Amino acid sequence: MSNHKIGMWMYQNSGGDQIQNKMIDKLRERDIITTTDLNLRNAIAKNGSIICNDTVMEELDLFFSYNAGQQTQYQVYLYETLDKFIPIINNYPAFSLTEDKFKTSHLLRHHGIMTPEFKLCHRDDVAKLKNVLREWGGKIVYKPTDGWGGMGLVKIENEAALDMLLPFLNQTDIRYFYVEKFVDYDNSDFRIDIVDGEFVACYGRKAPKDSWKTNITAGGSIFLREANDRLVEISKKAAAITGLEIAGVDLIYDRELEDYVVLEVNGIPAFATPEQEKMGLNFNDKKIDLIVDMIDRKVKGK
Ligand SMILES: Nc1ncnc2c1ncn2[C@@H]1O[C@H](COP(=O)(O)OP(=O)(O)O)[C@@H](O)[C@H]1O
Ligand SMILES: [Mg+2]
Repeated sequence: MSNHKIGMWMYQNSGGDQIQNKMIDKLRERDIITTTDLNLRNAIAKNGSIICNDTVMEELDLFFSYNAGQQTQYQVYLYETLDKFIPIINNYPAFSLTEDKFKTSHLLRHHGIMTPEFKLCHRDDVAKLKNVLREWGGKIVYKPTDGWGGMGLVKIENEAALDMLLPFLNQTDIRYFYVEKFVDYDNSDFRIDIVDGEFVACYGRKAPKDSWKTNITAGGSIFLREANDRLVEISKKAAAITGLEIAGVDLIYDRELEDYVVLEVNGIPAFATPEQEKMGLNFNDKKIDLIVDMIDRKVKGK
């Protein structure tokens, strides 16, 4: 009889369903039973329990939350609440931190990890923003602190462009501007996956012709790319600083600095899709094994 049970909410598209099945099988071999599809969006909290599809979440030994789809405020609120009762992968504080680009860069920098130079200024402080633009050689990137997929990022190359953007931003309820120096790089990036402090995989993405964004959703394409010691060292440190058990660290090579800088740390880095596996991205099994080992350890309190 198994006495360990965990809950799972995992993306099902792009091969996620197969990955989930593999994990469930491997966990069962270790006497850990999995309940799937625990989308907290459908949960209700009452009488001191969070109940999701008839499962009392607090009675689980662990919750594995791995769905990159935008979460509603409601489910994030329950995620935060549940994190006080059972271990969640990823843990809520790290998840929440890495949802915010400014807070992540700020913490990484504080611990000596290089990121693009950045500044946060109050939205009324346009004079400071103009100074920053001059100081950084006339090229900055405006980033929404909670964006993804390259959306909302705007490159600003002169004061006129800034003057055009400001009235637009002032119509939003954003209280601050987060800007980065535009990094001189070759329009390709590195994605390094780290699980439980271990290096799992490295691949690259390159921006489409005439673009500077490497995101797949912005037309970027994936290619095979080897890691090196420096990339792995920086990525392991970045993952540890954020506290993410599972982290996808995005880096680019800054030609001026002559070193890698961390752009962001992702809390739900995707497994390779079946098409990407055909291309030669073959890290899924290693990633599954590391995740299963980690769940096993946490559940059994080792
Ligand atoms: N400071 C920067 N300088 C040059 N290019 C950048 C900079 N920041 C981001 N980019 C490009 O834009 C893409 C998206 O930026 P990122 O910070 O990762 O946000 P997102 O969460 O939208 O992916 C990156 O993959 C990179 O190609
Ligand atoms: Mg990114």
